[in-house]
Order: sequence, then C-alpha cells, then structure tokens
Amino acid sequence: MLLRRRKGGGGGSGTEGRLSPPPGRWRGGRGGDGNPSPGSMATPRRSLEEVRDLVGGSHSISDLSQKLQFYDQWAPRYDQDVDVLEYGAPRLAVGHLAAAWSSPPEEALILDVACGTGLVAAELRRRGFCQIHGVDGSAGMLERARQRGLYQWLNLCTLGQESLPVPSDRYDAVIIVGALSEGQVPCSALPELLRVTKPGGLVCLTTRANTSNLRYKADLEEALETLARAGRWERVSERTVERWERATAPEEEQPGPGGQGRGVDGFIPGVIFLYRKSPAPRTVP
Ligand SMILES: C[S@@+](CC[C@H](N)C(=O)[O-])C[C@H]1O[C@@H](n2cnc3c(N)ncnc32)[C@H](O)[C@@H]1O
Repeated sequence: MLLRRRKGGGGGSGTEGRLSPPPGRWRGGRGGDGNPSPGSMATPRRSLEEVRDLVGGSHSISDLSQKLQFYDQWAPRYDQDVDVLEYGAPRLAVGHLAAAWSSPPEEALILDVACGTGLVAAELRRRGFCQIHGVDGSAGMLERARQRGLYQWLNLCTLGQESLPVPSDRYDAVIIVGALSEGQVPCSALPELLRVTKPGGLVCLTTRANTSNLRYKADLEEALETLARAGRWERVSERTVERWERATAPEEEQPGPGGQGRGVDGFIPGVIFLYRKSPAPRTVP
C-alpha cells in the first residue's frame, strides 16, 4: 500500500511529522468493520454534549488548512465520536451506491475521496466491494485508514488545491461522504471526481441538508446540474435522509427559508446524490 505525503505546501497538512506512528496495541472499541477501532483506545467515550461542542465548533472553521489540522487532531477519536453522533452517512451512501450496482461488486475498483479513517471502506467491504483506494487531505485521518487495513492504496491529496494523483477514467465508482460542505471540499472539485471515473461509472456524493449548510448545498446542486447540462454525467437518483446525524446545536435542527433543512428527533437531514458519467462528453452547441 502506498501512503504518500504531499510534496510541500498545499493547505498546510501532510508534513512528515504529522503521520503519527501506529499504536502498539488495541485497547477496546469497534470500528465499522467490526475490528477494534484504531482511535478508540483507552480513551473514555465522550458524552453527546462533549461531542456536540467539539463538532459544532469545527463547523465554524472555514479555513481549509485549519480544518485539516482539526481532523489531524481529531483522528484518534473520530470513530468513537461520530458513533456518539449516530453518524449514518457512510452506511447510507454505500447502501445507495450498492443498490444501483448491477455487476459483481468484487470486480469494481472504487475511489473513496476524503476517506477519513475508513468508515466508508468498512461499509463497502460489508457489501462485497474489496478493491478500494482512498485519498484524504489529513495525514492523521489517513493513518487511521491505513491501520484499518481495507484500502489497497492511500494517498494524501487536498481537493480544491491539487488534482487527484490518479489517471483519468480509472474507477468504476467514486464516492465522497461527509466532506462536501463549507470549509472542506469545494464544489470546484467535482470535475476532478468525474475525470477519474470510468465512462459509464458512478459518482456518489453526500452533503448535509440542514439549515447551516443550505447555501453550500444550493451551490453544490448548481455545480452538479451544470455538469449534467454539459452532458458530462446524468443524475441516477437523489435521496434525502431525515436522520443523517445528531444535531450539534438546537439551531441546527431549525428549518431554513421555506421550511427547508428541518431536523427530526434531534437529528439533521442529509442528502445522497448518484450520477453516472457519460460515455463521451457531448459538444454543447
Ligand atoms: C467528516 S470526515 C468524513 C470522513 C469519511 N468520509 C466518513 O464519512 O467517515 C471529512 C474528511 O474530509 C477530509 N477533507 C476535508 N476537506 C478536504 C479536502 N479539501 N481535500 C481532501 N480531504 C478533505 C478531512 O480530512 C476528513 O477526513
């Protein structure tokens, strides 16, 4: 497996020193693959209130390099904390992708963009996908993904600042979960996701649909549509999920203009988009 560091610059993450050494022993906790979660060792589980404070605070970080530094530090406890938040996005997105899959999953090569600690890979494996590559902008998160042992290839890459370090038309499917929001992966990165997808391949994307993310979501929908109008891909499906993850603040559950973005039972909504890359780009008159 490769786990390359960025060659300098590029958003302030990925220096040699930020790849932490693997821990010596497991001290409890379970990852999404049923194995001990690399980040859940001996650290007491945080309360919902503590996790809300931490994650809610991170939503206000709009500078990408600061955000990636936040992830570097959060990596050891990410799996445990998102479990407290009942973060369902990896399971929901992979379920959505798998439902549209018509060939044997073990033959498919998947790229997990902004793979984090590997929760999406764990869900992919549960569904029979076993050829999985990943990229992320945080060396700390990537190191956790490496320890999970489900990826054949991992690489440090900051979307929006650099190209994906892979050839065009390579993957049967590209998936990006939990990273399309303000201060993370910009909508301008969509063509890059499309570039590395095989013609006829699928791109699965998620974003939060709660009030504080409505502006980004609108920009994302516009960017998705622009590519569809240009004949680069076509929409296969879109699914809104009411219980995406627990709200990090009461105002997160409140509806925005027109009642959009309302949460239920303390959860915020999210949305999954699925697109199919066109066989060949059409020329627009
Ligand atoms: C909320 S986590 C989601 C991780 C994983 N996909 C999941 O669902 O558990 C967001 C991930 O996106 C990564 N990320 C944020 N902005 C990024 C960017 N511009 N380029 C690459 N990775 C980015 C972070 O480092 C972090 O690992």
